[in-house]
Amino acid sequence: MAPPTSTARPIRPAARTADIRYAVRDVISLATEAATAGRDMLYLNVGDPNIFGFQPPRHLIDATVDAMRANRNGYAPSSGLAEAITAVETEAARKGIASICHTYITSGASEAIELALAALADPGDNVLTPSPGYPLYTAVLAKLGVENRGYFLDEDAGWQPDLADLRRRIDDRTRAIVLINPNNPTGSLCDESTLRALIDLAVEHNLVIFSDEIYDKLVFDGGTHTSTAALSAEAKIITFNGLSKSYVVPGFRIGWGIISGPPAELEDYCEAIRKMERARLSANHPEQYAIRPALEGDQSHLVDMMARLTTRRDITASRLNAIDGISCVTPGGAFYAFPRIDLGVSDTEFCTRVIRETGVVVVPGSGFGQRPGTEHFRVVFLPPDDVLERAFDRIAQIAASYR
Ligand SMILES: Cc1ncc(COP(=O)(O)O)c(C=O)c1O
Repeated sequence: MAPPTSTARPIRPAARTADIRYAVRDVISLATEAATAGRDMLYLNVGDPNIFGFQPPRHLIDATVDAMRANRNGYAPSSGLAEAITAVETEAARKGIASICHTYITSGASEAIELALAALADPGDNVLTPSPGYPLYTAVLAKLGVENRGYFLDEDAGWQPDLADLRRRIDDRTRAIVLINPNNPTGSLCDESTLRALIDLAVEHNLVIFSDEIYDKLVFDGGTHTSTAALSAEAKIITFNGLSKSYVVPGFRIGWGIISGPPAELEDYCEAIRKMERARLSANHPEQYAIRPALEGDQSHLVDMMARLTTRRDITASRLNAIDGISCVTPGGAFYAFPRIDLGVSDTEFCTRVIRETGVVVVPGSGFGQRPGTEHFRVVFLPPDDVLERAFDRIAQIAASYR
């Protein structure tokens, strides 16, 4: 074979990466451009509590450091540390989840979701994901070659899942329904009657429910969070959660999945997930020692966190709703809002101008999914009150320029 004539031989990436989008990080290049141009940057785009001054409880750090010092630095069991699994299952029982078939500890809820999808769906199958919803699901499905089929959340009903739309989209290749509750990016909490109707649909069509409850402890106004799996022992449900948000350690990369429902009908699926767990050896080991202290220890950091977040949520909703051409459903949980723009401009154009001209970094709604004909952007309201106030002043200026 003749030697190559040129040394410039690019590596062709796999086709499966072509459809992978992650809007939250995609705005970074615009933000970098604005920062380089000397703008005063205000970041309302990343759901990482630590960069906005929130601190994890001290006993989680101690437990992890102690584990490292005791040289628990080898691999963990593939499904996770026994004491951590017991703590997760005990908490699940407290929330009313019965009939648990398998619990597995992972590198963030992200890995639990990825393993569960990979073990369930083949190319040609489809999975119903909320629109708007968290882009991890669409990215993983793109990677697996499984069809992502969005179902709409109804903005006029406080972003509850649109059950009629959901039902319409189910066909004989549908394998699962993803529910994010509280939702990212809308901050909406699903009401119990909607949860029950969604469960009925899943049972009727033998679909697995992926119930992503990573924000379950971040609920406003004294509201309570109901786990989907607590409402049915008949439905096949994986409940996803982790330490990232409620315990302020997203960098620990600790999450889990809890599979519940009729054991005999879930046996093969659980074994498929176990195979995938073994193939990746284990999740981070020393950090798993933080799980039991987190779930069973002092929870007072949550009181302080929710007090601060409530003020920030209120600032966000009131300031956005005061802008002509912008409206915002008040979030019931998490730390996101998903305001609507009615200014005769697209979400990307609006966000691009906000970032370029004001240095406020927000993410276009299309990165999360939105009903055709509607335009939104996502706000992370973790930053301190004064940062939010300044950011909304600047967003108001851009909105005013369209009138
Ligand atoms: C809805 C939702 N699920 C899962 C995750 C990922 O969580 P983890 O850090 O545990 O991987 C996030 C992170 O932002 C999220 O918003």
